[in-house]
Amino acid sequence: MLYSKNDKTPELETGSPLSDLITVGEDIPKYELPKEPMGGLLAYRALSDMLLDEGMARQNLATFCQTYMEPEAEKILSETLCKNAIDKSEYPRTAELENRCVNIISKLWNAPESLSYLGTSTVGSSEACMLGGMAMKFRWRKKAEAAGIDIREKSPNLVISSGYQVCWEKFCVYWDIEMRAVQMDAEDMSLNPKDVLSYVDDYTIGVVGILGITYTGRYDDIEGIDKILTAYNKSAKVPVPIHVDAASGGLYAPFIEPERVWDFRLENVVSINTSGHKYGLVYPGIGWVIWRDEEYLPKELIFNVSYLGGSMPTMAINFSHSASQIIGQYFNFLRLGFEGYKAVHERTRDIAEFLEKTVRQTGFFEILGDTKHLPVVCYRLTSDVKWTLYDLSDRLQMRGWQVPTYPLPKDLDDIIIHRYVCRADFSKSMASDFSEDFKASIQELENAVGITHSKEERGVRGFTH
Ligand SMILES: Cc1ncc(COP(=O)(O)O)c(C=O)c1O
Repeated sequence: MLYSKNDKTPELETGSPLSDLITVGEDIPKYELPKEPMGGLLAYRALSDMLLDEGMARQNLATFCQTYMEPEAEKILSETLCKNAIDKSEYPRTAELENRCVNIISKLWNAPESLSYLGTSTVGSSEACMLGGMAMKFRWRKKAEAAGIDIREKSPNLVISSGYQVCWEKFCVYWDIEMRAVQMDAEDMSLNPKDVLSYVDDYTIGVVGILGITYTGRYDDIEGIDKILTAYNKSAKVPVPIHVDAASGGLYAPFIEPERVWDFRLENVVSINTSGHKYGLVYPGIGWVIWRDEEYLPKELIFNVSYLGGSMPTMAINFSHSASQIIGQYFNFLRLGFEGYKAVHERTRDIAEFLEKTVRQTGFFEILGDTKHLPVVCYRLTSDVKWTLYDLSDRLQMRGWQVPTYPLPKDLDDIIIHRYVCRADFSKSMASDFSEDFKASIQELENAVGITHSKEERGVRGFTH
Protein backbone atom coordinates (compact mmCIF):
# COMPACT_ATOMS: atom_id res chain seq x y z
CA MET A 1 0.00 0.00 0.00
CA LEU A 2 1.17 3.54 -0.68
CA TYR A 3 -0.26 6.15 1.66
CA SER A 4 -0.51 9.92 1.24
CA LYS A 5 -1.74 12.88 3.21
CA ASN A 6 -5.14 12.41 1.58
CA ASP A 7 -5.59 9.18 3.46
CA LYS A 8 -5.85 10.82 6.85
CA THR A 9 -9.04 10.81 8.89
CA PRO A 10 -9.17 13.84 11.15
CA GLU A 11 -9.98 12.18 14.46
CA LEU A 12 -7.62 11.55 17.31
CA GLU A 13 -7.37 8.24 19.09
CA THR A 14 -9.30 9.16 22.19
CA GLY A 15 -8.41 8.48 25.73
CA SER A 16 -6.88 5.49 27.34
CA PRO A 17 -7.94 1.94 26.50
CA LEU A 18 -8.94 1.15 30.07
CA SER A 19 -9.74 4.58 31.39
CA ASP A 20 -10.62 3.52 34.92
CA LEU A 21 -7.35 1.65 35.36
CA ILE A 22 -4.89 3.94 33.68
CA THR A 23 -5.62 7.40 32.40
CA VAL A 24 -3.80 9.18 29.68
CA GLY A 25 -3.95 12.95 29.93
CA GLU A 26 -4.38 13.76 26.26
CA ASP A 27 -5.78 12.21 23.14
CA ILE A 28 -3.25 10.35 21.03
CA PRO A 29 -2.56 12.07 17.71
CA LYS A 30 -3.03 9.68 14.79
CA TYR A 31 -0.75 11.14 12.15
CA GLU A 32 1.85 12.96 14.22
CA LEU A 33 4.52 11.68 16.54
CA PRO A 34 3.20 12.09 20.10
CA LYS A 35 5.15 14.81 21.93
CA GLU A 36 5.68 12.87 25.14
CA PRO A 37 6.53 9.19 25.72
CA MET A 38 3.97 6.90 27.37
CA GLY A 39 4.40 3.77 29.43
CA GLY A 40 5.00 0.51 27.62
CA LEU A 41 1.92 -1.12 29.12
CA LEU A 42 -0.30 1.75 28.05
CA ALA A 43 1.15 1.74 24.53
CA TYR A 44 0.58 -2.01 24.39
CA ARG A 45 -3.03 -1.73 25.51
CA ALA A 46 -3.77 1.19 23.20
CA LEU A 47 -2.37 -0.75 20.29
CA SER A 48 -4.15 -3.98 21.03
CA ASP A 49 -7.40 -1.99 21.17
CA MET A 50 -6.61 -0.39 17.81
CA LEU A 51 -6.12 -3.86 16.34
CA LEU A 52 -9.09 -5.44 18.09
CA ASP A 53 -11.61 -5.53 15.25
CA GLU A 54 -9.32 -6.91 12.56
CA GLY A 55 -10.24 -10.22 10.93
CA MET A 56 -9.38 -13.45 12.71
CA ALA A 57 -6.39 -14.83 10.83
CA ARG A 58 -7.55 -18.45 11.03
CA GLN A 59 -10.98 -17.59 9.59
CA ASN A 60 -9.31 -16.03 6.55
CA LEU A 61 -9.89 -18.41 3.66
CA ALA A 62 -8.30 -15.96 1.22
CA THR A 63 -4.66 -16.20 2.12
CA PHE A 64 -2.05 -18.83 1.33
CA CYS A 65 0.07 -17.44 4.16
CA GLN A 66 0.57 -19.39 7.33
CA THR A 67 -1.65 -18.26 10.21
CA TYR A 68 -0.58 -20.64 12.96
CA MET A 69 2.65 -21.96 14.41
CA GLU A 70 3.14 -24.12 17.48
CA PRO A 71 4.04 -22.42 20.79
CA GLU A 72 7.59 -23.83 20.65
CA ALA A 73 8.03 -22.42 17.15
CA GLU A 74 6.70 -19.04 18.29
CA LYS A 75 9.13 -19.15 21.22
CA ILE A 76 12.17 -19.73 19.02
CA LEU A 77 10.92 -17.10 16.55
CA SER A 78 10.52 -14.47 19.23
CA GLU A 79 13.86 -15.35 20.84
CA THR A 80 15.66 -14.86 17.52
CA LEU A 81 13.89 -11.77 16.16
CA CYS A 82 16.96 -9.64 16.92
CA LYS A 83 19.29 -11.67 14.70
CA ASN A 84 20.08 -10.01 11.38
CA ALA A 85 20.15 -12.61 8.62
CA ILE A 86 22.80 -10.71 6.67
CA ASP A 87 25.35 -10.71 9.52
CA LYS A 88 26.81 -14.07 8.65
CA SER A 89 29.93 -13.47 10.77
CA GLU A 90 27.98 -12.59 13.88
CA TYR A 91 25.48 -15.41 13.41
CA PRO A 92 27.38 -18.29 11.80
CA ARG A 93 25.05 -20.90 13.31
CA THR A 94 22.06 -19.16 11.76
CA ALA A 95 23.91 -19.07 8.42
CA GLU A 96 24.45 -22.80 8.80
CA LEU A 97 20.70 -23.35 9.37
CA GLU A 98 19.96 -21.43 6.15
CA ASN A 99 22.50 -23.66 4.40
CA ARG A 100 20.77 -26.77 5.78
CA CYS A 101 17.36 -25.51 4.59
CA VAL A 102 18.71 -24.89 1.06
CA ASN A 103 20.09 -28.43 0.97
CA ILE A 104 16.88 -29.97 2.32
CA ILE A 105 14.74 -28.12 -0.23
CA SER A 106 17.13 -28.94 -3.10
CA LYS A 107 16.69 -32.61 -2.31
CA LEU A 108 12.91 -32.28 -2.14
CA TRP A 109 13.13 -30.74 -5.63
CA ASN A 110 15.45 -33.46 -6.94
CA ALA A 111 18.39 -31.20 -7.78
CA PRO A 112 20.90 -33.41 -9.64
CA GLU A 113 23.72 -34.45 -7.29
CA SER A 114 26.14 -34.35 -10.21
CA LEU A 115 25.65 -30.57 -10.55
CA SER A 116 26.35 -27.70 -8.13
CA TYR A 117 22.97 -26.41 -7.07
CA LEU A 118 22.88 -23.01 -5.39
CA GLY A 119 20.14 -21.37 -3.37
CA THR A 120 19.22 -18.76 -0.82
CA SER A 121 16.47 -17.63 1.49
CA THR A 122 14.45 -14.54 0.56
CA VAL A 123 11.75 -12.46 2.16
CA GLY A 124 9.11 -14.35 0.17
CA SER A 125 8.37 -15.66 -3.29
CA SER A 126 8.18 -12.16 -4.76
CA GLU A 127 11.85 -11.53 -4.01
CA ALA A 128 12.69 -15.09 -5.04
CA CYS A 129 10.90 -14.62 -8.40
CA MET A 130 12.81 -11.35 -8.98
CA LEU A 131 16.10 -13.17 -8.41
CA GLY A 132 15.12 -16.11 -10.63
CA GLY A 133 13.92 -13.73 -13.34
CA MET A 134 17.06 -11.58 -13.19
CA ALA A 135 19.31 -14.61 -13.48
CA MET A 136 17.40 -15.66 -16.63
CA LYS A 137 17.66 -12.14 -18.07
CA PHE A 138 21.42 -11.85 -17.52
CA ARG A 139 22.02 -15.33 -18.89
CA TRP A 140 19.85 -14.67 -21.94
CA ARG A 141 21.80 -11.46 -22.69
CA LYS A 142 25.13 -13.30 -22.75
CA LYS A 143 23.79 -16.17 -24.83
CA ALA A 144 22.01 -13.86 -27.27
CA GLU A 145 25.12 -11.71 -27.79
CA ALA A 146 27.20 -14.83 -28.35
CA ALA A 147 24.64 -15.98 -30.93
CA GLY A 148 24.99 -12.67 -32.80
CA ILE A 149 21.50 -11.35 -31.91
CA ASP A 150 21.07 -7.57 -31.73
CA ILE A 151 19.93 -7.34 -28.10
CA ARG A 152 19.00 -3.67 -28.51
CA GLU A 153 16.55 -4.27 -31.33
CA LYS A 154 13.75 -5.51 -29.07
CA SER A 155 13.08 -5.85 -25.36
CA PRO A 156 13.65 -9.29 -23.91
CA ASN A 157 10.42 -11.10 -23.06
CA LEU A 158 9.07 -13.56 -20.52
CA VAL A 159 6.35 -16.11 -21.28
CA ILE A 160 3.86 -16.95 -18.52
CA SER A 161 0.20 -17.86 -18.12
CA SER A 162 -2.31 -15.03 -17.68
CA GLY A 163 -2.93 -16.52 -14.22
CA TYR A 164 0.40 -15.08 -13.03
CA GLN A 165 0.77 -13.51 -9.61
CA VAL A 166 1.43 -9.74 -9.58
CA CYS A 167 5.11 -10.23 -8.63
CA TRP A 168 5.79 -11.22 -12.27
CA GLU A 169 4.19 -8.05 -13.55
CA LYS A 170 6.41 -6.14 -11.12
CA PHE A 171 9.45 -8.06 -12.32
CA CYS A 172 8.68 -7.20 -15.95
CA VAL A 173 8.02 -3.51 -15.24
CA TYR A 174 11.00 -3.01 -12.90
CA TRP A 175 13.49 -4.82 -15.18
CA ASP A 176 12.12 -3.69 -18.54
CA ILE A 177 10.93 -7.04 -19.83
CA GLU A 178 8.01 -7.56 -22.17
CA MET A 179 5.49 -9.83 -20.50
CA ARG A 180 3.92 -12.30 -22.91
CA ALA A 181 0.91 -13.61 -21.04
CA VAL A 182 -0.60 -16.74 -22.54
CA GLN A 183 -4.32 -16.93 -21.92
CA MET A 184 -5.15 -19.56 -19.32
CA ASP A 185 -6.87 -22.53 -20.86
CA ALA A 186 -10.57 -22.26 -19.88
CA GLU A 187 -10.84 -26.04 -19.63
CA ASP A 188 -7.80 -26.74 -17.43
CA MET A 189 -7.55 -23.31 -15.80
CA SER A 190 -3.79 -23.40 -16.40
CA LEU A 191 -1.22 -22.87 -19.16
CA ASN A 192 -1.70 -25.15 -22.15
CA PRO A 193 1.82 -26.25 -23.23
CA LYS A 194 0.65 -26.31 -26.86
CA ASP A 195 0.26 -22.52 -26.77
CA VAL A 196 3.76 -21.79 -25.50
CA LEU A 197 5.79 -21.90 -28.70
CA SER A 198 3.77 -19.23 -30.47
CA TYR A 199 4.96 -16.78 -27.77
CA VAL A 200 8.64 -17.79 -27.75
CA ASP A 201 11.42 -16.24 -29.88
CA ASP A 202 15.14 -15.36 -29.72
CA TYR A 203 14.34 -12.64 -27.18
CA THR A 204 12.65 -14.96 -24.67
CA ILE A 205 14.58 -15.07 -21.38
CA GLY A 206 12.47 -17.96 -20.12
CA VAL A 207 9.07 -19.55 -19.61
CA VAL A 208 7.57 -19.48 -16.13
CA GLY A 209 5.52 -22.53 -15.12
CA ILE A 210 3.31 -22.04 -12.08
CA LEU A 211 2.91 -24.82 -9.52
CA GLY A 212 -0.27 -23.57 -8.00
CA ILE A 213 -2.00 -20.77 -9.92
CA THR A 214 -3.04 -18.19 -7.39
CA TYR A 215 -6.58 -17.94 -8.77
CA THR A 216 -7.53 -21.61 -8.84
CA GLY A 217 -4.76 -23.63 -7.18
CA ARG A 218 -4.26 -25.61 -10.42
CA TYR A 219 -0.77 -26.67 -11.51
CA ASP A 220 0.60 -25.79 -14.92
CA ASP A 221 1.66 -28.86 -16.89
CA ILE A 222 5.37 -28.23 -16.40
CA GLU A 223 6.36 -31.63 -17.78
CA GLY A 224 4.42 -30.75 -20.96
CA ILE A 225 6.13 -27.35 -21.23
CA ASP A 226 9.51 -29.01 -20.73
CA LYS A 227 8.83 -31.49 -23.53
CA ILE A 228 7.92 -28.75 -25.97
CA LEU A 229 10.97 -26.67 -25.06
CA THR A 230 13.31 -29.65 -25.34
CA ALA A 231 12.25 -29.98 -28.97
CA TYR A 232 12.50 -26.20 -29.55
CA ASN A 233 15.90 -25.86 -27.88
CA LYS A 234 17.49 -28.45 -30.19
CA SER A 235 17.67 -25.87 -32.95
CA ALA A 236 17.14 -22.58 -31.05
CA LYS A 237 19.76 -19.82 -31.33
CA VAL A 238 19.13 -19.07 -27.67
CA PRO A 239 17.79 -22.04 -25.66
CA VAL A 240 14.77 -21.17 -23.52
CA PRO A 241 14.86 -22.29 -19.86
CA ILE A 242 12.00 -22.77 -17.40
CA HIS A 243 11.66 -21.12 -14.01
CA VAL A 244 9.02 -22.78 -11.82
CA ASP A 245 7.07 -20.43 -9.60
CA ALA A 246 6.22 -22.97 -6.92
CA ALA A 247 5.24 -20.31 -4.36
CA SER A 248 2.49 -22.55 -3.02
CA GLY A 249 3.19 -26.00 -4.48
CA GLY A 250 6.95 -26.17 -3.83
CA LEU A 251 6.59 -27.36 -0.25
CA TYR A 252 3.31 -29.19 -0.82
CA ALA A 253 3.64 -31.36 -3.95
CA PRO A 254 6.88 -33.14 -2.84
CA PHE A 255 5.02 -34.52 0.19
CA ILE A 256 1.63 -35.22 -1.33
CA GLU A 257 2.62 -36.33 -4.83
CA PRO A 258 6.36 -37.11 -4.86
CA GLU A 259 5.83 -38.94 -8.15
CA ARG A 260 4.61 -35.77 -9.93
CA VAL A 261 7.44 -34.61 -12.20
CA TRP A 262 7.63 -30.82 -12.19
CA ASP A 263 11.05 -29.98 -10.70
CA PHE A 264 14.78 -30.37 -11.46
CA ARG A 265 14.09 -33.84 -12.87
CA LEU A 266 13.08 -31.89 -15.98
CA GLU A 267 16.11 -30.82 -17.97
CA ASN A 268 14.94 -27.29 -18.83
CA VAL A 269 13.96 -26.36 -15.27
CA VAL A 270 16.85 -24.12 -14.20
CA SER A 271 15.40 -22.44 -11.11
CA ILE A 272 12.51 -22.81 -8.68
CA ASN A 273 11.08 -20.58 -5.97
CA THR A 274 8.73 -21.21 -3.08
CA SER A 275 7.28 -19.34 -0.11
CA GLY A 276 8.28 -20.88 3.21
CA HIS A 277 5.34 -18.96 4.64
CA LYS A 278 2.79 -20.86 2.56
CA TYR A 279 2.91 -24.67 2.69
CA GLY A 280 6.37 -24.47 4.31
CA LEU A 281 4.24 -23.65 7.40
CA VAL A 282 6.23 -20.61 8.65
CA TYR A 283 4.77 -17.18 9.50
CA PRO A 284 5.13 -14.57 6.70
CA GLY A 285 8.58 -13.35 5.79
CA ILE A 286 10.40 -16.33 4.22
CA GLY A 287 10.93 -17.60 0.69
CA TRP A 288 13.48 -19.73 -1.14
CA VAL A 289 15.01 -19.82 -4.60
CA ILE A 290 17.28 -22.55 -5.92
CA TRP A 291 19.22 -22.84 -9.17
CA ARG A 292 19.90 -26.22 -10.73
CA ASP A 293 23.60 -25.42 -11.18
CA GLU A 294 25.91 -22.44 -10.72
CA GLU A 295 25.91 -22.10 -14.51
CA TYR A 296 22.38 -20.67 -14.26
CA LEU A 297 23.22 -17.91 -11.80
CA PRO A 298 25.42 -15.31 -13.57
CA LYS A 299 28.36 -14.24 -11.42
CA GLU A 300 27.57 -10.51 -11.83
CA LEU A 301 24.52 -11.02 -9.64
CA ILE A 302 26.46 -12.43 -6.72
CA PHE A 303 27.84 -10.13 -4.01
CA ASN A 304 30.07 -11.02 -1.09
CA VAL A 305 29.42 -10.29 2.57
CA SER A 306 31.96 -10.78 5.30
CA TYR A 307 31.91 -14.13 7.05
CA LEU A 308 34.26 -15.19 9.82
CA GLY A 309 37.13 -13.05 8.58
CA GLY A 310 36.56 -14.14 4.99
CA SER A 311 33.66 -13.58 2.65
CA MET A 312 30.54 -15.42 1.60
CA PRO A 313 28.63 -15.12 -1.68
CA THR A 314 25.06 -13.78 -1.40
CA MET A 315 22.29 -12.89 -3.75
CA ALA A 316 19.42 -10.77 -2.44
CA ILE A 317 17.51 -7.57 -3.02
CA ASN A 318 17.05 -6.84 0.67
CA PHE A 319 19.99 -6.47 2.98
CA SER A 320 19.03 -6.45 6.66
CA HIS A 321 16.11 -8.48 7.89
CA SER A 322 15.41 -10.72 10.85
CA ALA A 323 16.72 -14.28 10.64
CA SER A 324 13.90 -15.62 12.79
CA GLN A 325 11.87 -16.93 9.84
CA ILE A 326 14.87 -18.89 8.55
CA ILE A 327 15.14 -20.42 12.00
CA GLY A 328 11.36 -21.05 11.98
CA GLN A 329 11.72 -22.89 8.68
CA TYR A 330 14.44 -25.10 10.09
CA PHE A 331 12.32 -25.67 13.23
CA ASN A 332 9.54 -27.08 11.04
CA PHE A 333 11.90 -29.30 9.05
CA LEU A 334 13.35 -30.65 12.29
CA ARG A 335 10.02 -30.98 14.10
CA LEU A 336 7.96 -32.51 11.28
CA GLY A 337 10.38 -34.35 9.05
CA PHE A 338 9.09 -35.77 5.76
CA GLU A 339 6.33 -37.84 7.37
CA GLY A 340 5.14 -34.95 9.53
CA TYR A 341 4.79 -32.58 6.56
CA LYS A 342 3.04 -35.33 4.63
CA ALA A 343 0.54 -35.96 7.44
CA VAL A 344 -0.21 -32.25 7.93
CA HIS A 345 -0.73 -31.68 4.20
CA GLU A 346 -2.85 -34.82 3.81
CA ARG A 347 -5.13 -33.59 6.55
CA THR A 348 -5.40 -30.21 4.85
CA ARG A 349 -6.22 -31.90 1.54
CA ASP A 350 -8.95 -33.97 3.23
CA ILE A 351 -10.51 -30.78 4.59
CA ALA A 352 -10.43 -29.22 1.11
CA GLU A 353 -12.16 -32.30 -0.29
CA PHE A 354 -14.81 -32.09 2.43
CA LEU A 355 -15.46 -28.41 1.63
CA GLU A 356 -15.57 -29.09 -2.09
CA LYS A 357 -18.22 -31.74 -1.47
CA THR A 358 -20.23 -29.29 0.65
CA VAL A 359 -20.16 -26.72 -2.15
CA ARG A 360 -21.05 -29.26 -4.83
CA GLN A 361 -23.95 -30.71 -2.82
CA THR A 362 -25.76 -27.38 -2.63
CA GLY A 363 -26.36 -27.67 -6.38
CA PHE A 364 -25.78 -23.94 -6.98
CA PHE A 365 -22.16 -24.01 -8.18
CA GLU A 366 -19.66 -25.40 -10.66
CA ILE A 367 -16.29 -26.43 -9.20
CA LEU A 368 -13.36 -24.96 -11.16
CA GLY A 369 -10.25 -25.91 -9.18
CA ASP A 370 -9.00 -29.36 -8.36
CA THR A 371 -8.16 -30.36 -4.81
CA LYS A 372 -5.83 -32.97 -6.32
CA HIS A 373 -3.48 -30.06 -6.91
CA LEU A 374 -3.34 -27.47 -4.09
CA PRO A 375 -5.91 -27.84 -1.28
CA VAL A 376 -7.92 -24.97 -2.75
CA VAL A 377 -11.64 -24.95 -3.45
CA CYS A 378 -12.65 -22.72 -6.33
CA TYR A 379 -16.11 -22.41 -7.83
CA ARG A 380 -18.51 -20.21 -9.78
CA LEU A 381 -22.23 -19.66 -9.38
CA THR A 382 -24.19 -21.42 -12.11
CA SER A 383 -27.77 -21.37 -10.80
CA ASP A 384 -30.23 -18.71 -11.81
CA VAL A 385 -30.62 -16.95 -8.47
CA LYS A 386 -31.15 -13.34 -7.38
CA TRP A 387 -27.94 -13.11 -5.38
CA THR A 388 -24.26 -13.07 -6.39
CA LEU A 389 -21.05 -14.49 -4.96
CA TYR A 390 -20.33 -11.02 -3.58
CA ASP A 391 -23.53 -11.27 -1.54
CA LEU A 392 -22.52 -14.68 -0.29
CA SER A 393 -19.09 -13.35 0.75
CA ASP A 394 -20.84 -10.56 2.68
CA ARG A 395 -23.06 -13.08 4.44
CA LEU A 396 -20.09 -15.25 5.38
CA GLN A 397 -18.19 -12.23 6.60
CA MET A 398 -21.04 -11.49 9.02
CA ARG A 399 -20.11 -14.82 10.60
CA GLY A 400 -16.41 -13.92 10.65
CA TRP A 401 -15.34 -15.91 7.55
CA GLN A 402 -13.29 -14.06 4.99
CA VAL A 403 -13.92 -15.52 1.55
CA PRO A 404 -12.69 -13.60 -1.48
CA THR A 405 -14.82 -13.07 -4.59
CA TYR A 406 -13.05 -11.95 -7.72
CA PRO A 407 -13.01 -12.25 -11.51
CA LEU A 408 -10.57 -14.63 -13.24
CA PRO A 409 -7.72 -12.97 -15.19
CA LYS A 410 -8.08 -11.11 -18.49
CA ASP A 411 -10.11 -12.85 -21.19
CA LEU A 412 -11.80 -15.07 -18.60
CA ASP A 413 -12.82 -12.13 -16.43
CA ASP A 414 -16.51 -12.60 -17.03
CA ILE A 415 -16.19 -15.58 -14.68
CA ILE A 416 -16.54 -14.56 -11.03
CA ILE A 417 -15.23 -17.03 -8.49
CA HIS A 418 -14.95 -17.83 -4.81
CA ARG A 419 -11.74 -19.40 -3.59
CA TYR A 420 -11.03 -21.11 -0.26
CA VAL A 421 -7.40 -21.74 0.58
CA CYS A 422 -7.22 -24.55 3.13
CA ARG A 423 -4.27 -24.34 5.47
CA ALA A 424 -2.87 -26.56 8.19
CA ASP A 425 -4.72 -24.68 10.93
CA PHE A 426 -8.15 -25.13 9.33
CA SER A 427 -9.33 -27.96 11.52
CA LYS A 428 -12.08 -30.48 10.90
CA SER A 429 -14.35 -28.80 13.43
CA MET A 430 -13.75 -25.37 11.85
CA ALA A 431 -14.54 -26.85 8.44
CA SER A 432 -17.74 -28.37 9.80
CA ASP A 433 -18.76 -25.01 11.35
CA PHE A 434 -17.91 -23.25 8.11
CA SER A 435 -20.00 -25.62 6.04
CA GLU A 436 -23.01 -25.05 8.36
CA ASP A 437 -22.52 -21.28 8.07
CA PHE A 438 -22.15 -21.60 4.29
CA LYS A 439 -25.44 -23.47 3.93
CA ALA A 440 -27.22 -21.09 6.33
CA SER A 441 -25.90 -18.08 4.39
CA ILE A 442 -27.26 -19.47 1.13
CA GLN A 443 -30.63 -20.10 2.78
CA GLU A 444 -30.72 -16.51 4.03
CA LEU A 445 -29.97 -15.18 0.56
CA GLU A 446 -32.61 -17.42 -0.97
CA ASN A 447 -35.17 -16.14 1.54
CA ALA A 448 -34.08 -12.49 1.40
CA VAL A 449 -36.42 -9.87 -0.01
CA GLY A 450 -34.01 -6.94 -0.03
CA ILE A 451 -31.46 -7.80 -2.76
CA THR A 452 -31.81 -4.96 -5.24
CA HIS A 453 -28.75 -4.93 -7.50
CA SER A 454 -28.89 -6.36 -10.97
CA LYS A 455 -27.13 -9.64 -11.55
CA GLU A 456 -25.10 -8.09 -14.37
CA GLU A 457 -23.46 -5.76 -11.86
CA ARG A 458 -19.70 -6.16 -12.27
CA GLY A 459 -16.64 -5.04 -10.36
CA VAL A 460 -14.79 -6.37 -7.37
CA ARG A 461 -16.28 -5.45 -4.02
CA GLY A 462 -16.43 -6.81 -0.51
CA PHE A 463 -13.54 -8.72 0.99
CA THR A 464 -10.46 -8.97 -1.23
CA HIS A 465 -6.99 -10.40 -0.80
C1 LIG B 1 2.08 -18.19 -7.72
C2 LIG B 1 2.58 -17.14 -6.78
N1 LIG B 1 3.76 -16.53 -7.02
C3 LIG B 1 4.25 -15.59 -6.19
C4 LIG B 1 3.56 -15.19 -5.07
C5 LIG B 1 4.14 -14.15 -4.17
O1 LIG B 1 4.48 -14.74 -2.98
P1 LIG B 1 4.96 -13.98 -1.67
O2 LIG B 1 3.70 -13.51 -1.01
O3 LIG B 1 5.66 -15.04 -0.89
O4 LIG B 1 5.86 -12.87 -2.08
C6 LIG B 1 2.31 -15.78 -4.78
C7 LIG B 1 1.52 -15.35 -3.62
O5 LIG B 1 0.38 -15.70 -3.42
C8 LIG B 1 1.81 -16.79 -5.65
O6 LIG B 1 0.64 -17.40 -5.41
